Amino acid sequence: MRRKFVAGNWKMNGSLAALAELDAIGAAVTDTVDVAVAVPATLIYPASQRARFPIGAEDVHANDCGAHTGCVSADMIKEAGAAFSIVGHSERRQAQGETDADVKGKAEALRRAGLHAILCVGETLEQREAGEAEAVVTAQIRASLPEGAAGDWLSIAYEPIWAIGTGKVATVEDVEAMHAAIREALGENGETIRLLYGGSVTAENAAGLLHAANVDGALVGGASLTAAKFIPIIEAAR
Ligand code: G3P
Repeated sequence: MRRKFVAGNWKMNGSLAALAELDAIGAAVTDTVDVAVAVPATLIYPASQRARFPIGAEDVHANDCGAHTGCVSADMIKEAGAAFSIVGHSERRQAQGETDADVKGKAEALRRAGLHAILCVGETLEQREAGEAEAVVTAQIRASLPEGAAGDWLSIAYEPIWAIGTGKVATVEDVEAMHAAIREALGENGETIRLLYGGSVTAENAAGLLHAANVDGALVGGASLTAAKFIPIIEAAR
């Protein structure tokens, strides 16, 4: 039985003042849905001190320490209070040129530190229009799947790039088809791993997406920035 998991991704948004949103979100958390929010690195410590649910990072370095100016390790985010990190978000794959091998290394670093990983995959609009979406995403899964992949420390977020921040949400049918393909690509231990959908999830479309076959939760960007928009999505997962 996979419990629903609704995670927020604040991206490069937020401030100390914005952490007040976490209080209202925390008040809405019950023991039927797992809730978490990934915040910018500078907010991990204050957010984790304040929130009544897990706070995470949005990225992490694959190495444990060393000459990597500007980066943070899994142990560092853990010490700051993070319980998890997102890895392989398309905004990083595209802007920072992260490869599947890089993403795999980052997920494995999280496991070494005893943290949870949310590993993102997704296709571009061109790839979907060319009928290559499932092939692209399952190839990403096979190439970035970390050693020892299992649901107690790993979730996967399917985020079609064309649906991120655009207001264009994938249809429930397309999400179900992709999640079934991902589940198959995960193989033996795949049954334990939660599959989240991400891309323009809102209070309006959340219920349909969250109760689709093989959808175990959502990774929410814009609508996670305020309690007023995020709480209805958490409630829709119940
Ligand atoms: O990681 C979440 C994300 O990329 C989706 O963003 O704003 O479309 O919900 P948004």
